[in-house]
Amino acid sequence: MGKVIVGKVSDIPPGQMKKISVDGKEILVVNTDGNFYAVDDTCTHSGSSLSEGKLQDSIVTCGWHGAQFDCKSGKLSKFPAKINDLKSYNVILESDEVFVEA
Ligand code: FES
Repeated sequence: MGKVIVGKVSDIPPGQMKKISVDGKEILVVNTDGNFYAVDDTCTHSGSSLSEGKLQDSIVTCGWHGAQFDCKSGKLSKFPAKINDLKSYNVILESDEVFVEA
């Protein structure tokens, strides 16, 4: 693995998300007010794709049962049961391109 291109900065406007696949792993890249973050796309509850959920500020809400994770850290922010945090990844911006270290 290593540095993987996500796309151009303009491909992911503020408030938007993009799912990429890296070696069979799904990673969610989000733009929160011009800051980019990357976390696992697979919800740690029952495996939904978080890219199909909703993003508000840095919080992604799972579309299946509503678990909320902070994309800045991958930490679970709200859910009635204890479930694992998401793994987070380093995001690198170079000129107008977005990369993830995965
Ligand atoms: S699969 Fe995400 S909250 Fe249940």
